[in-house]
Amino acid sequence: MRVILLGPPGAGKGTQAVRLVERWGVPHISTGDILRANVREGTPLGQEAKRYMDAGDLVPDDVIVGMVGDRLAEPDAATGFLLDGFPRTVPQARALEALVNERDTPIDVVLRLVVDQDDVVARLTGRRTCAECGRIFHVDTDPPSQPGRCDDCGGDIVQRDDDREEVVLNRLEVHRTQTAPLEDFYFERGVLRDISAVGSVDEVTDRAVAVLTEYDAPADGGDAA
Ligand code: AP5
Repeated sequence: MRVILLGPPGAGKGTQAVRLVERWGVPHISTGDILRANVREGTPLGQEAKRYMDAGDLVPDDVIVGMVGDRLAEPDAATGFLLDGFPRTVPQARALEALVNERDTPIDVVLRLVVDQDDVVARLTGRRTCAECGRIFHVDTDPPSQPGRCDDCGGDIVQRDDDREEVVLNRLEVHRTQTAPLEDFYFERGVLRDISAVGSVDEVTDRAVAVLTEYDAPADGGDAA
Protein backbone atom coordinates (compact mmCIF):
# COMPACT_ATOMS: atom_id res chain seq x y z
CA MET A 1 0.00 0.00 0.00
CA ARG A 2 1.55 3.29 -1.13
CA VAL A 3 -0.49 6.28 0.00
CA ILE A 4 -0.15 10.06 0.04
CA LEU A 5 -2.19 12.09 2.56
CA LEU A 6 -3.00 15.51 1.14
CA GLY A 7 -4.74 18.42 2.85
CA PRO A 8 -4.11 21.83 4.34
CA PRO A 9 -2.16 22.39 7.55
CA GLY A 10 -4.34 21.24 10.43
CA ALA A 11 -6.59 19.00 8.33
CA GLY A 12 -5.67 16.08 10.58
CA LYS A 13 -3.07 14.33 8.41
CA GLY A 14 -0.75 13.50 11.32
CA THR A 15 -3.65 12.40 13.54
CA GLN A 16 -5.04 10.06 10.90
CA ALA A 17 -1.64 8.85 9.69
CA VAL A 18 -0.80 7.32 13.08
CA ARG A 19 -4.04 5.31 13.04
CA LEU A 20 -3.78 4.22 9.40
CA VAL A 21 -0.18 3.00 9.53
CA GLU A 22 -0.98 0.94 12.60
CA ARG A 23 -3.75 -0.73 10.65
CA TRP A 24 -1.81 -1.28 7.44
CA GLY A 25 1.62 -1.96 8.94
CA VAL A 26 3.49 0.50 6.71
CA PRO A 27 5.88 3.28 7.81
CA HIS A 28 4.53 6.77 8.45
CA ILE A 29 6.84 9.14 6.59
CA SER A 30 6.15 12.70 7.71
CA THR A 31 8.50 15.31 6.24
CA GLY A 32 7.45 17.74 9.00
CA ASP A 33 8.42 15.19 11.70
CA ILE A 34 11.76 14.41 10.01
CA LEU A 35 12.55 18.12 9.73
CA ARG A 36 11.56 18.82 13.36
CA ALA A 37 13.80 15.93 14.53
CA ASN A 38 16.69 17.50 12.59
CA VAL A 39 15.97 20.90 14.14
CA ARG A 40 15.99 19.35 17.65
CA GLU A 41 19.27 17.57 16.97
CA GLY A 42 20.82 20.71 15.44
CA THR A 43 21.95 18.94 12.26
CA PRO A 44 22.99 21.06 9.23
CA LEU A 45 19.67 20.11 7.60
CA GLY A 46 17.77 21.23 10.72
CA GLN A 47 19.68 24.51 10.88
CA GLU A 48 18.85 25.25 7.27
CA ALA A 49 15.20 24.18 7.57
CA LYS A 50 14.39 26.06 10.79
CA ARG A 51 14.18 29.56 9.33
CA TYR A 52 11.70 28.41 6.67
CA MET A 53 9.60 26.44 9.14
CA ASP A 54 9.43 29.24 11.71
CA ALA A 55 8.10 31.58 9.03
CA GLY A 56 5.62 29.01 7.72
CA ASP A 57 7.39 28.84 4.36
CA LEU A 58 8.37 25.69 2.49
CA VAL A 59 11.86 24.24 2.76
CA PRO A 60 13.49 24.22 -0.72
CA ASP A 61 12.46 21.34 -2.98
CA ASP A 62 15.97 19.95 -3.55
CA VAL A 63 16.53 19.56 0.21
CA ILE A 64 13.19 17.80 0.71
CA VAL A 65 13.42 15.55 -2.33
CA GLY A 66 16.86 14.28 -1.30
CA MET A 67 15.62 13.65 2.25
CA VAL A 68 12.54 11.71 1.12
CA GLY A 69 14.53 9.75 -1.48
CA ASP A 70 16.86 8.55 1.30
CA ARG A 71 13.94 7.62 3.54
CA LEU A 72 12.11 5.69 0.81
CA ALA A 73 15.28 3.70 0.13
CA GLU A 74 15.16 2.22 3.65
CA PRO A 75 14.06 -1.44 3.82
CA ASP A 76 10.83 -0.81 5.76
CA ALA A 77 9.46 1.26 2.85
CA ALA A 78 10.02 -1.48 0.28
CA THR A 79 6.49 -2.89 0.48
CA GLY A 80 4.58 0.31 1.20
CA PHE A 81 4.44 3.65 2.97
CA LEU A 82 2.18 6.49 3.95
CA LEU A 83 3.50 9.95 3.01
CA ASP A 84 2.30 12.85 5.20
CA GLY A 85 3.30 16.38 4.18
CA PHE A 86 5.05 15.30 0.98
CA PRO A 87 4.80 16.18 -1.85
CA ARG A 88 3.98 19.83 -1.22
CA THR A 89 4.77 21.35 -4.64
CA VAL A 90 4.42 20.20 -8.24
CA PRO A 91 8.23 19.82 -8.63
CA GLN A 92 8.22 17.55 -5.53
CA ALA A 93 5.35 15.52 -7.03
CA ARG A 94 7.25 15.13 -10.30
CA ALA A 95 10.39 14.02 -8.45
CA LEU A 96 8.37 11.44 -6.49
CA GLU A 97 6.72 10.21 -9.67
CA ALA A 98 10.13 9.70 -11.29
CA LEU A 99 11.37 7.83 -8.23
CA VAL A 100 8.41 5.43 -7.93
CA ASN A 101 8.29 4.85 -11.70
CA GLU A 102 11.97 3.94 -11.66
CA ARG A 103 11.25 1.34 -8.98
CA ASP A 104 7.97 0.24 -10.61
CA THR A 105 6.14 0.97 -7.34
CA PRO A 106 3.41 3.48 -8.29
CA ILE A 107 1.35 5.45 -5.76
CA ASP A 108 -1.96 3.62 -5.18
CA VAL A 109 -4.03 6.48 -3.85
CA VAL A 110 -3.80 10.14 -2.85
CA LEU A 111 -6.28 10.70 -0.03
CA ARG A 112 -7.28 14.34 0.36
CA LEU A 113 -8.69 15.52 3.70
CA VAL A 114 -11.22 18.27 2.99
CA VAL A 115 -11.90 20.88 5.68
CA ASP A 116 -12.73 24.62 5.88
CA GLN A 117 -10.13 27.26 6.65
CA ASP A 118 -11.91 28.41 9.86
CA ASP A 119 -11.76 24.87 11.23
CA VAL A 120 -8.06 24.46 10.52
CA VAL A 121 -7.13 27.75 12.18
CA ALA A 122 -8.94 26.63 15.36
CA ARG A 123 -7.32 23.19 15.17
CA LEU A 124 -3.79 24.56 14.71
CA THR A 125 -3.87 27.35 17.27
CA GLY A 126 -5.23 24.86 19.84
CA ARG A 127 -2.84 22.03 18.93
CA ARG A 128 -0.27 20.88 21.47
CA THR A 129 2.41 18.27 20.80
CA CYS A 130 4.52 16.04 23.03
CA ALA A 131 8.13 17.22 22.79
CA GLU A 132 9.35 13.64 23.41
CA CYS A 133 7.17 11.28 21.35
CA GLY A 134 5.29 13.70 19.06
CA ARG A 135 1.79 12.65 20.14
CA ILE A 136 -0.73 15.25 19.05
CA PHE A 137 -3.29 16.82 21.45
CA HIS A 138 -5.76 19.70 21.27
CA VAL A 139 -6.54 22.02 24.17
CA ASP A 140 -10.32 21.74 23.63
CA THR A 141 -11.08 18.57 21.68
CA ASP A 142 -8.33 16.21 22.87
CA PRO A 143 -6.57 17.53 26.00
CA PRO A 144 -4.03 15.42 27.92
CA SER A 145 -5.31 13.80 31.14
CA GLN A 146 -2.72 15.72 33.17
CA PRO A 147 -2.07 19.32 32.07
CA GLY A 148 1.29 19.68 30.32
CA ARG A 149 2.15 15.93 30.44
CA CYS A 150 1.91 13.41 27.64
CA ASP A 151 -0.45 10.49 28.34
CA ASP A 152 1.82 8.10 26.44
CA CYS A 153 5.35 8.92 27.62
CA GLY A 154 5.05 11.61 30.33
CA GLY A 155 6.99 14.09 28.15
CA ASP A 156 6.42 17.86 28.14
CA ILE A 157 3.57 19.08 25.99
CA VAL A 158 4.45 22.16 23.96
CA GLN A 159 3.03 24.42 21.28
CA ARG A 160 4.80 24.18 17.92
CA ASP A 161 6.58 27.42 16.98
CA ASP A 162 4.69 27.51 13.69
CA ASP A 163 1.26 27.18 15.33
CA ARG A 164 1.13 30.87 16.28
CA GLU A 165 -1.77 32.50 14.47
CA GLU A 166 0.28 34.79 12.18
CA VAL A 167 2.43 31.85 11.04
CA VAL A 168 -0.65 29.64 10.59
CA LEU A 169 -2.17 32.22 8.22
CA ASN A 170 1.01 32.24 6.12
CA ARG A 171 1.08 28.41 6.05
CA LEU A 172 -2.49 28.39 4.73
CA GLU A 173 -1.56 30.90 2.02
CA VAL A 174 1.49 28.82 1.08
CA HIS A 175 -0.81 25.79 0.88
CA ARG A 176 -3.25 27.64 -1.39
CA THR A 177 -0.59 28.83 -3.82
CA GLN A 178 1.96 26.00 -3.82
CA THR A 179 0.28 22.78 -2.63
CA ALA A 180 -3.35 23.03 -3.84
CA PRO A 181 -2.19 22.66 -7.50
CA LEU A 182 -1.29 19.07 -6.63
CA GLU A 183 -5.01 18.28 -6.56
CA ASP A 184 -5.17 18.74 -10.35
CA PHE A 185 -1.87 16.90 -10.78
CA TYR A 186 -3.19 13.78 -9.04
CA PHE A 187 -6.75 14.10 -10.37
CA GLU A 188 -5.32 13.90 -13.90
CA ARG A 189 -3.51 10.69 -12.91
CA GLY A 190 -6.76 9.16 -11.62
CA VAL A 191 -5.52 8.53 -8.07
CA LEU A 192 -7.12 11.42 -6.12
CA ARG A 193 -9.82 10.52 -3.57
CA ASP A 194 -11.53 13.05 -1.29
CA ILE A 195 -12.96 12.51 2.15
CA SER A 196 -14.46 15.04 4.55
CA ALA A 197 -12.16 15.72 7.50
CA VAL A 198 -15.01 17.30 9.49
CA GLY A 199 -16.47 15.38 12.43
CA SER A 200 -14.81 13.34 15.15
CA VAL A 201 -11.36 11.81 14.67
CA ASP A 202 -13.00 8.35 14.67
CA GLU A 203 -15.48 9.35 11.98
CA VAL A 204 -12.68 10.64 9.75
CA THR A 205 -10.70 7.43 10.33
CA ASP A 206 -13.72 5.36 9.30
CA ARG A 207 -14.00 7.31 6.04
CA ALA A 208 -10.28 6.93 5.33
CA VAL A 209 -10.30 3.21 6.09
CA ALA A 210 -13.32 2.70 3.82
CA VAL A 211 -11.46 4.28 0.89
CA LEU A 212 -8.10 2.60 1.51
CA THR A 213 -9.73 -0.81 1.91
CA GLU A 214 -10.84 -0.53 -1.73
CA TYR A 215 -7.15 -0.67 -2.64
CA ASP A 216 -5.77 -3.06 -0.04
CA ALA A 217 -7.22 -4.87 3.00
CA PRO A 218 -5.76 -3.74 6.36
CA ALA A 219 -2.90 -5.85 7.71
CA ASP A 220 -4.85 -6.37 10.94
CA GLY A 221 -7.84 -7.69 8.98
CA GLY A 222 -10.02 -5.00 10.60
CA ASP A 223 -13.37 -3.93 9.18
CA ALA A 224 -13.74 -0.67 7.30
CA ALA A 225 -16.34 0.50 9.81
P1 AP5 B 1 4.09 19.73 8.63
O1 AP5 B 1 4.53 19.23 9.92
O2 AP5 B 1 3.90 18.79 7.48
O3 AP5 B 1 2.80 20.59 8.87
P2 AP5 B 1 1.41 20.71 8.05
O4 AP5 B 1 1.25 20.10 6.75
O5 AP5 B 1 1.26 22.19 8.07
O6 AP5 B 1 0.48 19.87 8.82
P3 AP5 B 1 0.20 19.92 10.31
O7 AP5 B 1 1.13 19.00 11.04
O8 AP5 B 1 0.20 21.36 10.78
O9 AP5 B 1 -1.32 19.46 10.37
P4 AP5 B 1 -1.98 18.02 10.22
O10 AP5 B 1 -2.82 18.01 9.00
O11 AP5 B 1 -0.97 16.95 10.39
O12 AP5 B 1 -2.96 18.11 11.46
P5 AP5 B 1 -2.93 17.34 12.88
O13 AP5 B 1 -3.26 15.91 12.70
O14 AP5 B 1 -1.71 17.68 13.65
O15 AP5 B 1 5.10 20.85 8.09
C1 AP5 B 1 5.63 21.85 8.94
C2 AP5 B 1 6.63 22.69 8.15
O16 AP5 B 1 7.73 21.85 7.68
C3 AP5 B 1 6.09 23.35 6.87
O17 AP5 B 1 5.46 24.57 7.13
C4 AP5 B 1 7.39 23.51 6.05
O18 AP5 B 1 8.16 24.61 6.50
C5 AP5 B 1 8.14 22.23 6.37
N1 AP5 B 1 7.83 21.13 5.44
C6 AP5 B 1 7.25 19.92 5.75
N2 AP5 B 1 7.12 19.17 4.64
C7 AP5 B 1 7.61 19.90 3.61
C8 AP5 B 1 7.72 19.67 2.21
N3 AP5 B 1 7.28 18.53 1.65
N4 AP5 B 1 8.26 20.65 1.44
C9 AP5 B 1 8.71 21.80 1.98
N5 AP5 B 1 8.62 22.10 3.30
C10 AP5 B 1 8.07 21.15 4.12
O19 AP5 B 1 -4.21 18.03 13.57
C11 AP5 B 1 -4.19 19.40 13.92
C12 AP5 B 1 -5.00 19.62 15.22
O20 AP5 B 1 -6.37 19.30 14.97
C13 AP5 B 1 -4.55 18.71 16.39
O21 AP5 B 1 -4.60 19.44 17.58
C14 AP5 B 1 -5.60 17.57 16.40
O22 AP5 B 1 -5.82 17.08 17.72
C15 AP5 B 1 -6.85 18.30 15.86
N6 AP5 B 1 -7.73 17.42 15.09
C16 AP5 B 1 -7.36 16.46 14.19
N7 AP5 B 1 -8.45 15.87 13.66
C17 AP5 B 1 -9.53 16.48 14.23
C18 AP5 B 1 -10.94 16.34 14.09
N8 AP5 B 1 -11.49 15.41 13.25
N9 AP5 B 1 -11.75 17.14 14.82
C19 AP5 B 1 -11.23 18.07 15.66
N10 AP5 B 1 -9.91 18.26 15.86
C20 AP5 B 1 -9.07 17.48 15.13
